[in-house]
Amino acid sequence: MTALTLSTAAASGLRADAIVVGVAKGAKGPVVALGAESVDKAYDGKLASVLETLGASGGEGEVTKLPAPSGFKAPVVLAVGLGAVPEKDSAYDADTLRRAAGAAARALAGTKRAGFALPIADAADTGAVAEGALLGAYSFDAYKGDGKDTKSAKGKGKAEAAGKGGKAPLAEVALLGAKPRDKAHKAAVERATAVTEELNRARDLINTPPNDLNPEAFAAVAGAAAKEHGVKVQVLDEKALAKGGFGGILGVGVGSDAPPRLVKLSYTSSKAKKHLAFVGKGITYDSGGISLKPAGHNETMKCDMSGAAAVFAAVISAARLGLEVNVTGWLALAENMPSGSATRPGDVLRMYSGKTVEVLNTDAEGRLVLADAITKASEDKPDAIVDVATLTGAMMMALGGRTFGIMANDDAFRTSVHEIAEEVGEPSWPMPLPEHLLKGMDSPTADIANMGERMGGGLVAGLFLREFVGEGITWAHLDIAGPAYNEAAPFGYTPKGGTGSAVRTLVRLAERTAAGDLG
Ligand code: BES
Ligand code: MN
Ligand code: ZN
Repeated sequence: MTALTLSTAAASGLRADAIVVGVAKGAKGPVVALGAESVDKAYDGKLASVLETLGASGGEGEVTKLPAPSGFKAPVVLAVGLGAVPEKDSAYDADTLRRAAGAAARALAGTKRAGFALPIADAADTGAVAEGALLGAYSFDAYKGDGKDTKSAKGKGKAEAAGKGGKAPLAEVALLGAKPRDKAHKAAVERATAVTEELNRARDLINTPPNDLNPEAFAAVAGAAAKEHGVKVQVLDEKALAKGGFGGILGVGVGSDAPPRLVKLSYTSSKAKKHLAFVGKGITYDSGGISLKPAGHNETMKCDMSGAAAVFAAVISAARLGLEVNVTGWLALAENMPSGSATRPGDVLRMYSGKTVEVLNTDAEGRLVLADAITKASEDKPDAIVDVATLTGAMMMALGGRTFGIMANDDAFRTSVHEIAEEVGEPSWPMPLPEHLLKGMDSPTADIANMGERMGGGLVAGLFLREFVGEGITWAHLDIAGPAYNEAAPFGYTPKGGTGSAVRTLVRLAERTAAGDLG
């Protein structure tokens, strides 16, 4: 993981591979952003016109490298586009800073050390730049190269050491312009470091191929991290699940040679006044089961445990930050496979709640594992439950690849979650739970079917889950099927592959709850 420090060094004197500056898109061409004054001066005040000559506009995400001014210890200046000039020169919004820092960090892969002289006005900006840089520097290369130990390759990634063309992530970032001795700036860096380390671990888990990450392996990773950070962990294996009557989780996992798990992670604070429960869909591979997905729809289905990865990262983050709120994470882990023992379309499952479900489509498996976990989570009577799931292709159809849908049984809570997501830079949108769609899940045989009308399929899934929320408990459901996994080119601080969607929303929700801002 990239190391981040606050530095008082002048840009000219910093021993580094590059100095990063911000450039905004002005009405008459590129405008050098705050924080780069000394760099601009070293170019005789001509940095903007040099950039313009090179074809730079200051557009968001644009990256331009130029030789550093003479006298600089670093050989290169990298200008990263910030987009439109804000009304007040110092007031770049947090996500603009995050995205610019992320794009710059990614562009510097293969180098060792960079100084970031981006426009930082306060501690919140320091946190945003730190977060963006640490997320943007991420790369997943565990499966590239010959896999030999790289200790002798002095910190180079396996891929690079093996000469397979992969570039090691930027190793060190020095933030210039932040205040190293200021408590608020230091705290912002500590928070960003903790959250991005956990978020990047979630990305690693999502990117790990499903032959190496089955439910048991995921549970082991979660258990080890929980122990390290003082989080209590309980794992229900297939025997315990059978004994407990978890028909939903078992029904999904029964077709696989790798048995399912339900993991409970409990972070408690002696100063907590509230209790949040986070529930994550953890299908380590979704083949569709007997209702097998066609080719073209299953290549990325290792990402179907992204909800559980997000919940895991959020609980460990809460522990590392010492938040004054109790947070319980539930990871509903199973592999959805077709086999002679797999659940058939037409089978009826008796769920942990006691309700019966007719499985009409074994590819609608996420709601089955989540239903059991939500019922179980409800027993503790938390103040709120938030589930996170790559639940439906329909939500992707509705909102595209970057936005998650938020459904809830409480309008005010749905609005709060939406606002919190906005604040941390995670695009989301509130979605309804239209009552009339419930009828579509009527089953002639069982209490409910696991499928309803095709139209509004994301909302149908939300309505199904709502049936399993304990009486009187506030609940929200995040369908992250779109943003969980990025099949397109990287952008801002978002890499290709697993993104860590919803982690930062959950962490901020816990922080806000701890601060007494909610309910
Ligand atoms: N894991 C999928 C949803 C999904 C699709 C996530 C694409 C990410 C990208 C889920 O289990 C699923 O298969 N849902 C079905 C439900 C249908 C059978 C009612 C779907 O969306 O088609
Ligand atoms: Mn499925
Ligand atoms: Zn699925």
